[in-house]
Amino acid sequence: MSAVQRLVAARGLVRGLTRRRFLTIAAAGTVSGVGLYTWRVEPHRLEIVRRPLPVRALPPALAGKTLVQLSDIHVGPRVSDGYLLDTFRRVTELRPDVVVMTGDFISHHAGFLDQIRAIYSSFPRGRLATLAVLGNHDYGPNWSHPEIARQVVDAVRPFGITVLRNDMRDVAGLQIAGLDDLWAKQFNPSEALRRLDSRRSAIVLSHNPDTVDLPVWEGYEGWILSGHTHGGQCKAPFLPPPLLPVVNRRYTRGEFTLSGNRRLYISRGVGHLLRVRFNVRPEVTVFELRQA
Ligand SMILES: [Fe+2]
Repeated sequence: MSAVQRLVAARGLVRGLTRRRFLTIAAAGTVSGVGLYTWRVEPHRLEIVRRPLPVRALPPALAGKTLVQLSDIHVGPRVSDGYLLDTFRRVTELRPDVVVMTGDFISHHAGFLDQIRAIYSSFPRGRLATLAVLGNHDYGPNWSHPEIARQVVDAVRPFGITVLRNDMRDVAGLQIAGLDDLWAKQFNPSEALRRLDSRRSAIVLSHNPDTVDLPVWEGYEGWILSGHTHGGQCKAPFLPPPLLPVVNRRYTRGEFTLSGNRRLYISRGVGHLLRVRFNVRPEVTVFELRQA
């Protein structure tokens, strides 16, 4: 090889190395950027989702009123208190008519009662009603501590939050039933569903969306509002979320049409378990009640 050929080959090698090095640095930068976004940004990048909620036999006076759903707040060491308080402030400023919370007030931890009092004293209240159901995390370790759930219910009550435990309330003519949690073995809907007058408007709150597939609905027609999945928290494009705590893996997030004239809406939730979210922003849902 001549001196000129050696020089040309060496320059090519340097160019190749430089390009490879550049691509490596770019790839590393992208990965760490996505990681940083997934950890530091998206878990607190709340989306306020606005949707109509057409309800059969809705009293005319409720048409156009707002029903705000919050879910899976998970007060505890992994969710920033400041983020939650800011979320509550944003919802309060919307002046909702009805507020519902579909379970998982807490991630259980020592000192949870003090933190409940500090955070839920700012929980947004509906002009007409503020109703909630419990989730599996409200039952403490292994979802098996009813005494912890009772403490949660008692702690939020002074802040105007009524927790429905297989029970229902009439809100200006709209019946709202709240079912207790499936994994905590407290899901017992028959009494609450039997009390619903099928000629009048109704909505059901049930933390775990798998409950809609159980043979317990006794002719109920209408919306079921759920949470529990957090939307999977992370979702790559064109792939299902890797972590989804449901048997029926269709039930990720959003709206589903079900048998028996029922419809399901699954909120992506406000909080998280592990502090990671990617392509699944936290959600507060602002429904506008409409006559179906
Ligand atoms: Fe949850």
